[in-house]
Parts: sequence; structure tokens; C-alpha cells
Amino acid sequence: MQKILVTGGAGFIGSTTVDLLVEKGFYVCIVDNLFLGKKENINKKAAFHKIDIRNKTAIEKVFAKEKPDFVVHLAAHMNLRQSIENPFFNADVNIIGSLNLLESCKKFSIEKIVLASSGGAVYGEPLQLPVPESHPLQPLSPYGASKIALEEYAYSYWKNFGLDFAAMRYANVFGPRQNPKSEAGVISIFSEALLQNKNPFIFGSGEQTRDFVFSKDVAEANFLALTKKTKSHIFNIGTGEEVSVNRIFAFLKDFFGFDGKAIRKPQITGEVKRIFLDNSLAKKELGWIPKTRFEEGMKITAEWFKKHGKKKLIL
Ligand SMILES: NC(=O)c1ccc[n+]([C@@H]2O[C@H](COP(=O)([O-])OP(=O)(O)OC[C@H]3O[C@@H](n4cnc5c(N)ncnc54)[C@H](O)[C@@H]3O)[C@@H](O)[C@H]2O)c1
Repeated sequence: MQKILVTGGAGFIGSTTVDLLVEKGFYVCIVDNLFLGKKENINKKAAFHKIDIRNKTAIEKVFAKEKPDFVVHLAAHMNLRQSIENPFFNADVNIIGSLNLLESCKKFSIEKIVLASSGGAVYGEPLQLPVPESHPLQPLSPYGASKIALEEYAYSYWKNFGLDFAAMRYANVFGPRQNPKSEAGVISIFSEALLQNKNPFIFGSGEQTRDFVFSKDVAEANFLALTKKTKSHIFNIGTGEEVSVNRIFAFLKDFFGFDGKAIRKPQITGEVKRIFLDNSLAKKELGWIPKTRFEEGMKITAEWFKKHGKKKLIL
């Protein structure tokens, strides 16, 4: 049985990926410090190590114990606004933490590492739409810069030590288990607010658009990237469609029967106005297609929050 070590496996995308890998018959071990991840997200068939990726010695010990064949690296500090305020903390987790992992991958001769980059944060304000992987990298935040650094470090480890890698530039991922406290997930943030009958914030006009990709489809992309030998190393993982924040609010308002309004706030620095990704490379080389249509994914996600929210109230 092949072994996969997943960092951030107690988080949103991480736990969805772990569930799929377990279902596919892999042995999975998780490294997560539960910064935003949750114990209840952890797959019961996976081994769990509560470790901070900034702790190089602890990371090495886990590699020595678990002897993984592959690594999926999803642990990160992903709060864009906080990264602007405190780039040092962000770099410590996303760059130094990632380097600790790459070093262990090298030391323990890992076959391949699949890592989380960000299609929403590395390109900056797009010069062309949909955005291809070849688009200039012009990050508007230290978070985006840290993801580019991670890609570049992975490239150098591949060139120097033959560590194969795939950097996944996810669009805006959404789905069950997304943490409304993580800032990135407008759908989870709105769902939580509307469930509590609170008026959510909309920054800017609400006409800003994003490419929303469902978490299960992202997990599938991670699995394909792990198991396929590819010519390219960097892939956009998005639907290629754009959806506005106002459209999301309208859908959820209707779904939760909320009759209030959103509170309008000024546009945030460091956030792009319009973006959607060209996913043709992932389709061609990984054989990946985003299977879940937007409305279907929204329904599944909103249902999950409804159930989850109710449970919280009962407790
Ligand atoms: N959600 C999105 O829309 C999106 C978009 C682009 C890229 N990404 C990337 O995908 C990855 C997963 O994101 P997510 O949405 O699942 O976020 P998440 O916060 O749910 O998951 C991140 C996990 O990493 C863990 N973690 C954080 N710091 C850690 C540390 N120092 N040591 C060990 N574990 C640590 C957290 O506890 C959490 O479980 C991240 O790398 C993120 O940058 C996410």
C-alpha cells in the first residue's frame, strides 16, 4: 500500500483530499497543527500528527516514522489581509515551513510532492482572461508572493535533487467544511452570517468576480497530480467561469430565506476585481475536469452549513 503524507489534512481542502485518498486505498498520514483545522475533519482511517510545519526536527521525525512515498502539502497561513499586516508570520509558515518539508522530501527520497499554490493570488490583476499559467506573476499580497516562492523552491528541488512536483494554482475553492473564519471563503462566510440572521459584509460593489471550484473536484485534481507523470509542473485548477459576489449573495439569500441586506464596505487593497482561470492544461495533462456545476456545489455547501449550524445550536 502506498503511503501519502498530507499537511493541512485537518483543514478544508486537506480533509476532502484525505477522504478521497483513503477511499482510493492509500495509507494516509496527516500533519496539521490545528491552527484552523479541526479534529472532527480528520479521517478515522488516517494517522494524525499534531505538528507545526515550522518545526523542522518534528517534521523529520514524522518522515522517518511514516516513510511516505508521496507528499501533498496544503498547510499554510492563507489570510491575505493578515499577510499584508504581518508578512513575517506568513513567510515563516508558508516559506520556512514549506522548506522544512522540501528538505525532508529530499532526505527521505519522496517520489513526488503536490503543493497548494493560488490562482487567485499569484497573478495579480489579470492582463488577460481567462488567465493561463504563463500569465506574468504580479502578486498583490505577501501571501501571493509566498506561494510563488514555494513554486520556485519546488522547481529548484526538482532540478537539483530530482524531487518531482506539481504546483496546483487553485481558484476560489468552496464546499462543505470550509472554515468561515479563514477569510478566503465568501460562500462559507455568507452562509454562517445568514444562518445567524446577520447581515454579511460585501467589500466593493459586489460585482467583483471569482472562479469558484468545488472542493471534491479539487481533491480529484490533487489525486490525479499525485498519480500521473506530467510534462508540466504548474496547473490552474479552476472552472474557467466567473461568478460575482452579488450572485452568491442572491443565491444564499434565497436558500436561507434571509430578507436583510448586505453591509457595503470599501474595496480591499490587494484583492483583484475580476479573475477566472484557463484550465486547459489540467484538462490535457491531468485528464481533470471540474465535474460539479456551480449551482449544484452551492446547494451541497449551503445544505452542509445548515446542518452544521443547527448542530452547533443544539450543543
Ligand atoms: N480555499 C481556497 O480557496 C484556496 C485557494 C487557493 C489556494 N489555497 C491553498 O490551499 C491550501 C489549503 O487551504 P484550505 O482552504 O483548506 O485552508 P484551511 O485553513 O482549511 O487548511 C489549512 C490547514 O493548514 C493547517 N496549518 C496552518 N498552519 C500550519 C502550520 N504552521 N503547521 C501545520 N499545519 C498548519 C491548518 O490548521 C489547516 O488545517 C492552503 O495552502 C491554501 O493557501 C486555498
